[in-house]
Amino acid sequence: MAPEVTPALLDVDGLFVRYGILIGLRDASLTVGKGEFVALVGANGAGKSSLLSAVAGLVGRSEGRITFDGQDITRRRTDEIVRAGISLCPEGRGILPRMSVRENLLLGAYHQRAQAARNLERVHTLFPILHERHGQMAGTLSGGQQQMLSIGRALMSEPRLLMLDEPSLGLAPIVVHEILETVAALAKDGMTILLSEESAKKALEFADRAYVLETGNIVLEDTASALLGNEALTAAYLGRSHLASHDSAEA
Ligand SMILES: Nc1ncnc2c1ncn2[C@@H]1O[C@H](COP(=O)(O)OP(=O)(O)OP(=O)(O)O)[C@@H](O)[C@H]1O
Ligand SMILES: [Mg+2]
Repeated sequence: MAPEVTPALLDVDGLFVRYGILIGLRDASLTVGKGEFVALVGANGAGKSSLLSAVAGLVGRSEGRITFDGQDITRRRTDEIVRAGISLCPEGRGILPRMSVRENLLLGAYHQRAQAARNLERVHTLFPILHERHGQMAGTLSGGQQQMLSIGRALMSEPRLLMLDEPSLGLAPIVVHEILETVAALAKDGMTILLSEESAKKALEFADRAYVLETGNIVLEDTASALLGNEALTAAYLGRSHLASHDSAEA
């Protein structure tokens, strides 16, 4: 049994996401405590993006309740959710390739315009490469740098909860490690993190706690170290390829 987490920053209770007659997420409940680094792991189509997109207000939430810092945000629009303090780095990174690095970052400051200069400086300190390349078209950055840009842009709105949807997608193992190390450093600094990953092992090495999703259901929940140590159980839900480290990823 996973330990109780208090106080909760994000509380998802009995959430369903439907796409017409298809179900993306079924009766999902999870909690992310203040300052926690929580991973969502599961194979293709397990419902990771459905869950994160629902919290961000990007897909319909047909049943259930989402509470953020004590406020019911279930029916709020995405811009209201961003203002409340939640940022999402979407799957595929969502950067605008024909705009400069700096312009992409400033888009993330839309709801925090007064603090844009200070937040830009913070992002540049976190990812010096984004400072060096500030005038370059975002589409010409490497995959890893584009992921840093996606994280940087999400940080420009000063979130209290940072959600990342499969940041490691298509990246070489060393770059994945670097990205996860940065996310873990943000968590250590007090940021609350909810991160989805198909490659469970890497995420579990960095997270405090994790939920395992399978075909739209949360089937397992435990501390990351307990899940890492429970190979039989994890293999049953995720399969061998998801336990293996990211050896097959592209550079
Ligand atoms: N826009 C959509 N329309 C119809 N069905 C969808 C849509 N988005 C997701 N689904 C379905 O919902 C289920 C959950 O998908 P979701 O994208 O949330 O999973 P995931 O864990 O993020 O997968 P992946 O690892 O491939 O990103 C899948 O069966 C998927 O086919
Ligand atoms: Mg997904």
